Amino acid sequence: MKPLIIALALVLAAPLPASAHPRPPRDLRQLAEQTGVKIGSAVDIAALRAESDYRRVLNRQFNHVTAENAMKWESVEPQRGVFTWDDADTLVENARRNRQQVRGHTLVWHNQLPAWLTAGVEDGSIGATELRQILRDHITTQVRRYKGKIRAWDVVNEVVEEDGTMRQSIWLKHLGPGYIADAFRWAHRADPRAKLFINDYNLEWNAPKIETTLSLVKELQAQGVPIHGIGFQGHLGIQYDYPGDWANVMRRFADLGLEVAITELDVRMELPVTPEKLATQATYYSRAMTDCLSVRACRELTVWGFTDRHSWVPGWFDGEGAACLLDENLAPKPAYQALLTVKNPR
Ligand code: G3I
Repeated sequence: MKPLIIALALVLAAPLPASAHPRPPRDLRQLAEQTGVKIGSAVDIAALRAESDYRRVLNRQFNHVTAENAMKWESVEPQRGVFTWDDADTLVENARRNRQQVRGHTLVWHNQLPAWLTAGVEDGSIGATELRQILRDHITTQVRRYKGKIRAWDVVNEVVEEDGTMRQSIWLKHLGPGYIADAFRWAHRADPRAKLFINDYNLEWNAPKIETTLSLVKELQAQGVPIHGIGFQGHLGIQYDYPGDWANVMRRFADLGLEVAITELDVRMELPVTPEKLATQATYYSRAMTDCLSVRACRELTVWGFTDRHSWVPGWFDGEGAACLLDENLAPKPAYQALLTVKNPR
């Protein structure tokens, strides 16, 4: 009798196979539940505070969030030793209340650094030894503050150039290539349970960048560095081909034992918006989800903003925009529906 009960329990516990989900998911949270892929969004803290419709949709649709700017160095330590955690705390607290996991973005980057740091390095008042100490303190302080509240950290962001060489950032120039391994080790020490990622853009298709990043991961693993995942930003545009080999690239990193995440997906277009462009955009979003679902190690798909009301694209790419799943009025675009109806092989 007992073996039968155990067998029955095992069957009941197993997630229902895809075909068992009679109806397509009603929203992105249900898509996440049905596929096991966390569906997230970057969050604009000012909008989270000020816009109830933005807040409602964010908390209803997404089970994972990333701070768009609130956890970047210039935001958390604008003056040396003076920390401003309010925005980051707001995101983490909102996530706790709404059953959302959090991706920390980002500990080491060449952009959005506080002026006291870049000026000090430039004028030589901050030398290499002190700079290494400053970086160590920054990582330790920030990761320890959110210990147990951050599922995954983008430890280093955009460290490889488009030609496959290592980015000549303030970190590489003044600390040498070892800064990357140090950053992972310091982050791991501060929160041993957080998943630690390397994150970059154009990794979906840029061969020299892919090869260098794969070699870098292997080097770090050979040194016993605690690296757990690879983040593909996924900033796409319908005026460019969809990166057709993306799933294979994901698999190459998965074969190294890494978790895979799409961390900053958006699909921009040259304005004006037309029904044809929206239809093409929808295919790019559903192909990205399909590629993720085809690689078991891919456990997260985060969009870099869910509404055209708050998107970095128009400010960065002249004449382009409408990159998100929902329009300025938070009405779903064809891309939103396309995500919900992706075939779920899991
Ligand atoms: O905070 C200042 C504010 O005080 C000032 O009044 C305002 C006007 O200039 O600027 C505000 O800073 C802006 C900041 O976002 C916060 O809103 C910066 O100008 C603006 O450049 C910055 O843009 C961010 C960009 O990273 C900076 O590189 C975007 O919002 C953000 O979406 C974007 O995100 C990056 C990821 O971190 C990494 N991958 C690429 C992605 C897109 O560039």
